[in-house]
Amino acid sequence: MLSVDSLKKRYRKKLVLENLTFTVRPGEIIGLVGENGAGKSTLLRILATIDKPNKGSISFFNYLYSKNRKEIRKYIGYVPQDIAIWEELTVKENMLFFEKLSLSSKSSQELRQLCLDMNLDKWEEPVKKLSGGMKRKLNIAITLIHEPTMLLLDEPTVGIDLKSKIEIGSYLLKQAKDNNRIIIYTSHDMDEINHLCDRVICIGEDSFYEDILKDSGKEIISF
Ligand SMILES: Nc1ncnc2c1ncn2[C@@H]1O[C@H](COP(=O)(O)OP(=O)(O)OP(=O)(O)O)[C@@H](O)[C@H]1O
Ligand SMILES: [Mg+2]
Repeated sequence: MLSVDSLKKRYRKKLVLENLTFTVRPGEIIGLVGENGAGKSTLLRILATIDKPNKGSISFFNYLYSKNRKEIRKYIGYVPQDIAIWEELTVKENMLFFEKLSLSSKSSQELRQLCLDMNLDKWEEPVKKLSGGMKRKLNIAITLIHEPTMLLLDEPTVGIDLKSKIEIGSYLLKQAKDNNRIIIYTSHDMDEINHLCDRVICIGEDSFYEDILKDSGKEIISF
């Protein structure tokens, strides 16, 4: 269980997040929406332990973010907004490289299966030759190597074709529902949000997203 209580984040004079309180249970997919600059990536970075809030507390099962950052990191998979993989290396080499960095031990076949589960079959192909959608899939596969309890994905489906979007979406759904993982992800695609998410968190003053979500039947938490 993830509990966020009264979170506040400011960059110098700019207040980005204020009084953010919510909880997420295992198996839930949470969609994070808000206009550009609302603070979605900031919140994900804080949850990924990369950034720190100015006020408020976060707990992850029995761990406190203020005290147990190292332990918490073992349970988190984070895909930043900008793709972070080695362009010159093949899919296989990337997977093997990140497997070495991760705390788990996986065989080459297991690593390959992680890619195949998302319909990414270019095992021997250099990453620079992959499409944007394939790179996103690889980034997600890398994040799953250490079998994280919580997946934090910053716009995992931006700028990719519908087929890849659906493949990534159904894969995330499976990860949450079959493996009981917490998934928190951002997207500007409201159809996708409506399809995938159990709940939606709206950040920022703009009521645009809330209006779109009004008839969706989703539980909407807004700040
Ligand atoms: N390291 C930083 N230093 C100063 N200001 C920052 C920093 N990171 C983000 N900001 C500011 O915080 C605000 C929120 O940024 P953030 O990237 O979290 O928005 P976002 O909701 O992810 O936007 P987008 O939809 O464009 O990705 C913006 O005004 C941004 O300029
Ligand atoms: Mg962002």
